Amino acid sequence: MSTLPDPNLQEARENPEPQESHNPMPWVVILLTAALFVFGIVYILRSDLTTPPVWGDGRDLAELQGASSSAGAAGSVDGAAVYSARCAACHQANGAGLPGVFPPLADSEWVSGKDNTLIAAVLHGIDGPLTVKGQSYNGVMPAFAAQLNDAEVAALLTHIRSQWGNSAAPIGAEAVAAVRSATEGQSGPYHGDAELNAIP
Ligand code: HEC
Repeated sequence: MSTLPDPNLQEARENPEPQESHNPMPWVVILLTAALFVFGIVYILRSDLTTPPVWGDGRDLAELQGASSSAGAAGSVDGAAVYSARCAACHQANGAGLPGVFPPLADSEWVSGKDNTLIAAVLHGIDGPLTVKGQSYNGVMPAFAAQLNDAEVAALLTHIRSQWGNSAAPIGAEAVAAVRSATEGQSGPYHGDAELNAIP
């Protein structure tokens, strides 16, 4: 007699084969998705665009517009920021320049000298032989008349006049505007000491 197990009993122990089927998405998920979608649209439509700025980054609309307006008051322009963006690459963050290449602004007689000369130099640029603190330079300083407005030049010059041990009088936007219109005919940079000293 053979002792093979009963095949029917063996079959009874097996689970049915799993089957792939097309299960519909549960209606709870569909409902939740739809509800979130509707909530999003309603939220956007209902949100108040004039929300108090304290909820955001703290600046209000007037401040944001003032910062980008070309005729902003000198008080609203950050001279230090203009300096880092436009001048520090050459004259260095500490105003010391690079020996023999870029003259220093710290303790410079041009920075603390005549207002008109300093303004005109930054508006139109400088090239040719220039003496700063007894050292001779012969480089090219770019013009900034097209890049900076009166308020920005004023804030910038006021800033460099109060940094690195400098202490000269602040410069106002009206002074910059006056020099800008007085030197309208200037095409190209001033050539060295001689032309800078001739600025009225
Ligand atoms: C590309 C480099 C460069 C940049 C940027 C630059 N300068 Fe100059 N600057 C010079 C050079 C070079 C001279 C000397 C020119 C010469 O030798 O004729 C000079 C000279 C000057 C002088 C007169 C000399 C002195 O050291 O006091 C002043 C003032 C001055 N720059 C201010 C500025 C200000 C303000 C800015 C930013 C708006 C600025 N410069 C941006 C290169 C630069």
